Amino acid sequence: MEREAHTPPGLPVVGNLPRLARDPLRFLTGVQNAYGNQYPLVRVDPPVGQSVTVVLDPELAHEILADRARFRRPSVGVQEQRRQGLVSSDGALWEQQRSVLDPEFVGGRLAEYAEIAGETLEETLTEWPESGTVDLFEELSILTMRVITRSLFSRDTDRERGERVHEALATLNDEFDASVFDLLLPERLQSGVSSEFEAADAVLDSVAAEFVDWHLDHEDPPRDVITALVDAKADPDIELSENELIDQTVLFMTGGQETTALTIAYAFYWLSQNPKVKERVRAEARDVLDGGRPGWADLSELTVTERVVRETLRLTPAAWNVSREPREPLTLAGTQLDEGEFVMLPIYAHHRDRRAWSDPLTFDPDRWGTTASRGDDAYYPFGSGPRVCIGRQVALTEAQFALAHVLQHYDVAVTADELDLQPSVTLRPSGPLEAEVSALD
Ligand code: HEM
Repeated sequence: MEREAHTPPGLPVVGNLPRLARDPLRFLTGVQNAYGNQYPLVRVDPPVGQSVTVVLDPELAHEILADRARFRRPSVGVQEQRRQGLVSSDGALWEQQRSVLDPEFVGGRLAEYAEIAGETLEETLTEWPESGTVDLFEELSILTMRVITRSLFSRDTDRERGERVHEALATLNDEFDASVFDLLLPERLQSGVSSEFEAADAVLDSVAAEFVDWHLDHEDPPRDVITALVDAKADPDIELSENELIDQTVLFMTGGQETTALTIAYAFYWLSQNPKVKERVRAEARDVLDGGRPGWADLSELTVTERVVRETLRLTPAAWNVSREPREPLTLAGTQLDEGEFVMLPIYAHHRDRRAWSDPLTFDPDRWGTTASRGDDAYYPFGSGPRVCIGRQVALTEAQFALAHVLQHYDVAVTADELDLQPSVTLRPSGPLEAEVSALD
């Protein structure tokens, strides 16, 4: 529905939608630093269609994320509009889904996933060349896909399937990249979905269907995310649609795999730029793991590695923004917002806010050991509030393990001096992320 653009008095209008769409990272960081000390919110002017309200005050961002009664998640992207799953559901359905799935991400389950991550890493590393150039993002996508499917769906993923899913996601992201700000245009101007998109979507469907069918055909399938969903389906109080099993599986597979692979890949980039820190991670890994594979008990001892992961998620957060929309007209920080108005919470810009961080553009993992140079509210790579990322501990464990285990056996040097980032559904590199790898043993 077309909405009339309006600018309430007092709320500054900064730039316009085409500028935001052209280079969102630069635009949002610039606005954050220029206006953040004066205004909690600003509005980006739309030439047509609806405006975008950008939240500059990180504390306000947390308030919005905590307030499910007044704000909902808009369906951003075709995948979310098409699929019913935890990422896209709302209201009572979301509550049901989250309560069914939460127990799969606590306590002993996390320890089990950690062991699976360690085993999978050890196996996957045996497939790496003794030395050579690899597309690091692709290699790590294959790794994280394996870890996700083994942990959450009790099924293995071979290299070929990992590559197919990686390619399908690249196609879906390219499409989204072209259409991200289409969402904000009146419907008549929005572009449709291409045949490449449909084909990539079908790849995800068929991979997910294999996992789901295996569970349905199996008399006594192992306890995992798909079993939890199947059991919930049998509960008369819980309504799940027929397609939901496949949709949930696709959303977990894609949501968990790509973001984690990006985080590990970017950590290797930052370590390549900071060789002394890389040596500290390697020394810690050798000390704690002594050449063996990492396990749950090692996690708390990999402290330098943990700070590297945190700092990577600050400077290059795989989820570079989250968004919300008011359920009905409301007042936010003194500003009137319409129902359905697009409210953007720019995680990337908050993570680089000059007021919140000392030396914000410097990769400094040691800032996490002190309180002086970290901007607590201005750090939320996994979101916050009731819809905070359900897989955050899985992702953090896997990233820590991957850095530690790889670096005790390999040197990894990302060749590019600068990252060329493409803010799409996730924050992806614009092309292959090449790295020279060489075995150390
Ligand atoms: C470094 C890796 C990851 C990052 C940066 C990340 C980031 C996020 C963020 C920012 C949100 C909140 C979105 C919002 O509030 O609108 C989210 C939600 C979610 N994430 Fe992650 N995520 C990561 C890994 C994972 C993994 C490994 C899984 C699965 C095991 C996962 C599954 C989900 C799901 C299902 C939701 C929706 C939760 C809900 O709405 O209740 N994520 N993630």
